Amino acid sequence: MGDSSRLISALKPFCDKIRSVVEAGSEIAVVTHLDADGITSGSIIATALARMGAKCAVRTVSDMTPAVIERMKAEDHEFYVITDLGGGMAAQFRKTLGYRWVVIDHHQIPEEEMLTDDAGQVMNAWKFGIDGGIEVPAGGMAYMVASALDRKNRDLSCIAVVSAVGDRQDQGDKRSFMGLNNEILEIAKSAGLVNVDLDIMLTGRETRPLHEALAFTSFPFIEGLTWNRDNCHAILKNAGIRLKDNGRWRVPAEFSQEEKSAVLDAIAKFVATANKTSTGVINDLIGYVYTLAGEDKRSQLRDAREFATLLNACGRIGKPGVGVAICMGDRNAMLTAGEEISVQYRTTLRNYISTIFSEKWRVTDDGTSAFVNGDGLVAQDMLGAVSSLLSGSPTLAGRLVFARTLAQDGTYKFSSRKSLGCVSKANLGLVIRHCAESVKGTGGGHAAAAGCRIPATSLDPFLSCLKAAVNDEKFAAS
Ligand code: C5P
Repeated sequence: MGDSSRLISALKPFCDKIRSVVEAGSEIAVVTHLDADGITSGSIIATALARMGAKCAVRTVSDMTPAVIERMKAEDHEFYVITDLGGGMAAQFRKTLGYRWVVIDHHQIPEEEMLTDDAGQVMNAWKFGIDGGIEVPAGGMAYMVASALDRKNRDLSCIAVVSAVGDRQDQGDKRSFMGLNNEILEIAKSAGLVNVDLDIMLTGRETRPLHEALAFTSFPFIEGLTWNRDNCHAILKNAGIRLKDNGRWRVPAEFSQEEKSAVLDAIAKFVATANKTSTGVINDLIGYVYTLAGEDKRSQLRDAREFATLLNACGRIGKPGVGVAICMGDRNAMLTAGEEISVQYRTTLRNYISTIFSEKWRVTDDGTSAFVNGDGLVAQDMLGAVSSLLSGSPTLAGRLVFARTLAQDGTYKFSSRKSLGCVSKANLGLVIRHCAESVKGTGGGHAAAAGCRIPATSLDPFLSCLKAAVNDEKFAAS
């Protein structure tokens, strides 16, 4: 596990650089990724900068490409803070933007980029021996910078907790945090901002009737229950669970431990009969839940996972600004807009997943890897959400999931995930980067989640490369 003391020493000169840019009155563009980690990291830094009196604006992009760098140059901002993007691209930034930029990120970068960062512009977890795949996301790195800029920014630790669950870094025992994420969580807990409990991880623990909460829970994705309110109601009612109290629906938080065990038994029985699998779905449903104590009891922002889902929805549906506004404290019109976006996002995802499972030709499954064809169906910005959901499905348990879709620009976009229960040693970030580069595409990521874009004409060689690389020791996770 990484040693955050090296990171802490590097933060001082990094923050001095940011302070001098702000003091010079420079106008700053924060450029970030449009997923939950991108929105949280960009917002944390923008909040810290705004509190210093800086002139800054946040802009989100779906990938950092040479074309985006050119556009940044054309817009000619005085300084750029790039978050959750740009790993491995320092040389291109230097060539195009000179020294007017810094990157705050957690994606694995080539050693060369660490060794050539003489001006200290790259604040990346891996430089300090911290595993950016499981110990800290960009939101946590941005939080470290923000709290080093000013201790007052420690109130942003709860947004860093949202980034960690949003980036699926809750990978310790029972979905606990590890490494630097845990250190940040402790700060949030001791400030009374976040409470942690072991519970059934239902979506809407404090806000929805139990059967609805179960139907809205998509990780793990339980075929027949996820998004199927009627089935959820039926199995719980048949199990004799008291769903109403004086005519009012009871929410999951109101159920006793004993009742919760009965709920889990009912789910287990359904999974065993309907899906004929004995995956650890029940185990996957129990884990630590992270509650943002300062949020309204009836709000979707109270549960860190639901907060992150809302941010993802904002980014994927094309309204990332709403997510940024919410992270920066807007709780009125923007929260209402965010909730509407969430509904739209869930409906879209539900249609995608049911089409994928009903049109059998879309899934090719050899038992180790499942290739999912989203051509003509899945919008490119939604692909990552689709592969994440599929990776929580009992049907694809244990597989490496490779989802693809044909993008509007004629390239193929791929998104890969390790499913629940996957024992493959492959490091998907290394596999995807290698195979994408072998066909002149770009991509990368982490051991358990990665993505890329490749030329459409290279589909067959890319797929052959993937099939070989997942079994190649060279690309195994260390
Ligand atoms: O797009 P998707 O959600 O599948 O991405 C999974 C991970 O792979 C993310 O952490 C993302 O930043 C990384 N990725 C990358 N290069 C790409 C696409 C994704 O490094 N072109």
